[in-house]
This record gives sequence, structure tokens and C-alpha cells, in this order.
Amino acid sequence: MNSTQGYIQVFLSQPNWNVLTWGVAFLAVVVSTFLKFPLSGTKKTIIPAKSKLYGQPVQSIKPTAVDPSFQWNKDPPLKSYPFKDAVYKLTMGIKTLEVQDWLLIEPTYLNRIENKSKIVHNCHEDYPKDKDTRSSSLFVTDEAIPAIREFYDIVMQYMCDKYPMYFKKVGNQYHNGITDKCYPVDNSTVEAITLEEYLVENIEEDFIILLKDPTREHEIDGTEYFFKGGVFAFAAGFDPKDRFNKPLSFVHHPIPGYPEKLKMSMNRFFNRLQPGQFVTRSNFSMQTHPKFYVDDANKGHNLPEGYVQEPLRIEELDFEKQVHYRSERQCLTKLPKSGAMVFTIRTYLLPLAEVKREGREVCDRLIGAIRGLPEDISQYKRADEWGPAVIEYLSVP
Ligand code: HEM
Ligand SMILES: *[C@@H]1O[C@H](CO)[C@@H](O)[C@H](O)[C@H]1NC(C)=O
Ligand SMILES: *[C@@H]1O[C@H](CO)[C@@H](O)[C@H](O)[C@H]1NC(C)=O
Ligand SMILES: *[C@@H]1O[C@H](CO)[C@@H](O)[C@H](O)[C@H]1NC(C)=O
Repeated sequence: MNSTQGYIQVFLSQPNWNVLTWGVAFLAVVVSTFLKFPLSGTKKTIIPAKSKLYGQPVQSIKPTAVDPSFQWNKDPPLKSYPFKDAVYKLTMGIKTLEVQDWLLIEPTYLNRIENKSKIVHNCHEDYPKDKDTRSSSLFVTDEAIPAIREFYDIVMQYMCDKYPMYFKKVGNQYHNGITDKCYPVDNSTVEAITLEEYLVENIEEDFIILLKDPTREHEIDGTEYFFKGGVFAFAAGFDPKDRFNKPLSFVHHPIPGYPEKLKMSMNRFFNRLQPGQFVTRSNFSMQTHPKFYVDDANKGHNLPEGYVQEPLRIEELDFEKQVHYRSERQCLTKLPKSGAMVFTIRTYLLPLAEVKREGREVCDRLIGAIRGLPEDISQYKRADEWGPAVIEYLSVP
């Protein structure tokens, strides 16, 4: 933006018409290049210039039914190993996603739903009795209410379409055959926060609703999308309450390199995504405990100022019960009616010993990825502490 303004100023201060003509031509080329290749910098052009889906997208959030012999607790879960034996690069790292693969039922279903319910109802045994995890995991603003109602409709219908053996519409209720509980079809009979609680009981994924806020455009980064609602129960290393009702750049503070390397492309991407289009990305890290909701550990910025991260010793670590590999599969789409962006987060949390049992190829790739973390990212992920011991553990056959 600044460089474009710079060009315009240079050209306007030049009385030379020749230069002005060339300048306008140059700008036209730049602008048309941006329009044609909105995601320059990523390899695939994910968003066609004119989306066929735009304007009639409701059906586009409709999957087809899975194989009727599908049993929710039989097939092994997805292997979420999004690491490369290479130097870490801070990029969006997104790929297109078929609507079919958006929300999943895997054998972790009941475990995750129960864990999440306890977190949003302040009764999870992993946290002190007086800790208020509810206010850090359930979020509603008035502006987000229509989007929450719309998301509820879409999700419940999605589950009925994709998993008809488990989700059915019976009269004015949806029936979940795994938990044997019922939920209203009519989204307007209960408050938005109650719909969020219902969603906690029906999908494993956390979900964040993001909206523009025209009343706050004058604020820093105020033209970005704001985190306006949703369920963020499996936070990994920050308190979601501190990010709530804030623009995207604030939400991503203090990721090293975000302002220079991600901010522009993220905002452009959020503005251009069309309803019915889905993208996905995954990340990974390590934690030395088995908790799902973590607001005070995992990330370097939770440590006191000046704290030096010392490598943990392999003898002190329990790789079967304590040290966990954590990977989050995130999907992003835009809702057709409200225009809200929805970011769903599916958390894979498994003992590192289980990852090790995947075999040499996975272990070597993970070792390479840990070695490839630059110092700032390594500190951010606290890999200066767990890195050496994890590498040693994975190296031993
Ligand atoms: C296309 C969308 C997005 C991309 C590409 C993206 C990218 C990233 C990256 C690269 C990181 C740091 C390293 C990593 O975890 O890989 C990160 C962390 C994070 N992201 Fe995103 N993000 C996206 C959307 C969102 C949304 C919608 C939210 C929710 C409001 C969000 C919340 C966070 C938070 C809270 C962190 C951790 C910050 C911390 O540890 O303090 N992200 N994201
Ligand atoms: C939560 O998940 C942990 C780890 O899988 C499990 O041990 C625990 O039983 C779960 N809690 C509930 C209430 O499901
Ligand atoms: C909520 O449900 C009503 C009727 O049941 C439907 O017409 C409306 O579109 C839904 N609201 C949203 C925001 O999707
Ligand atoms: C993955 O990214 C999400 C959101 O972008 C973030 O909240 C989370 O802390 C990251 N998790 C890991 C395991 O790195």
C-alpha cells in the first residue's frame, strides 16, 4: 500500500506527461496482475477470479453420505504429520479442501466432546476448581449471533448429510445416535451461547467466527476480520479470552515474523475467500503434558521476561504419558448468508511414543523439522527446552 502511494506521489510531482503515461500503464499491469493472481506467492491459485458458487452457495456446504457400513470408532484417525525435513518457513501453508472432508467423526469423538464439555462447563479435573475455563472458551458478541445461528444450521445439516447413520432429523429435532441426545432443528428457539454448547456436544472441532467491524475501522488493524464468537476450548499456549474481539493481526501477536511475512497475504486471503470455498492448513508442536486447554504453557511468550530456556533431560521425561505430539488441522470457509469467516480447529494430541511407533520415516522427518526450526520460532514453540530430548528419543531405534 505504502509503495503504491509512493509511486503515485512520485508521478504526480512529475510534470512530464510521458512519465505519467508510463506510470499509469505500469500501475495497470500491477493491478491486473493482482486481480488475476490473487494469491501470488502461493503455488496454487485457490480462488478463481469469478466464483461460480457466489450467490447460490448453500448447497455447496453439503457433503455426500459416507459408506453406510461406516462405524465411528473403527477406522484409525487421520495421520496429521504436517512436518518436513527442512528449514521452517512461516507461510500460510494452505491447500484447497473438499467440502466432504471438512468436519470429521473419528474414534476420538466421544473423548474430545466430553473433554470439551467439561472445559466449557468449568468442571474439568485437569484444572483447579476455581479456574474459569468457560469464559476463556465460549464466545458471543451481538454482531456474531446471526453467524452462530447460521453455522449451527449448516453444521447440523452437514452431519445429517454426511453421517446419516448417526445424525437424523426427527420431527423438529436432530438426533445424535452416538450420544443419543436431541437438539432443536429451529435455531431461533434458544440463545446463541446455547447453540454453541450444542455444537460442543456434536462436533469435535473448535470453531472461531470472524467478522468485519465497521464501527472499529479507525483502530489499529481495524479493517481486518475480528474474532467475534465461537468455541475455542483446546487452546494451545495462550488464553483465547485475550484474543477475543480483536483483529487478526492482534490475534497472531507475538508470532515472530507475522507482521512482515504473513499479515498482508492473510488479510488479502480473508477478503477474497468466497462462500462455499474451503481451505485447510495444519501445524504441529510438542508439549510436556496431556492437557487440551493450555493457557499458561506450551509457548515461549508465557515465560517470564529474560527467562532462558534450558534443554530438558531425556531421563526426566515420560514419552508414553507426558510428552505429547500436538497437531491442529484447521479449515477455513466463509458462510453464505452472514459472510462470516469460520475457522475450525481439530486437535490431534498423542503421546510421542505413539508417533515413534509410526517408524523410521516419520521419526526422521520429525527430527529434521525440529532441527529446521529457526531460533526465534524455536523459542516461540519452546523447542529449546523439549527439542534436544525429543530428537534423542526419536533417534534411538
Ligand atoms: C488462513 C488462516 C490462518 C493462518 C494461515 C494462520 C497462521 C498461523 C501461524 C503460521 C501461526 C504460528 C505458527 C503455527 O502455529 O503454525 C499461527 C498461530 C496462531 N493462530 Fe493462526 N492462522 C490463521 C487463522 C487463525 C484464526 C482465524 C485464528 C483465530 C482467531 C488464529 C489464531 C491463532 C493463534 C491464537 C495462534 C497462536 C498465537 C500464540 O501462540 O500466541 N489463526 N497462525
Ligand atoms: C480427556 O482426554 C484424556 C486424554 O485422552 C482422557 O484420559 C480423559 O479420560 C478424557 N476425559 C473425559 C472426560 O473424557
Ligand atoms: C434459523 O432458522 C430459521 C428457521 O428455522 C431459518 O429460516 C433461518 O435462516 C435460520 N437462521 C440463520 C441465520 O441461518
Ligand atoms: C496451531 O495454530 C493455531 C491457530 O492458527 C494456534 O492456535 C495453535 O497454537 C497452533 N498449535 C500448535 C500445536 O502449534
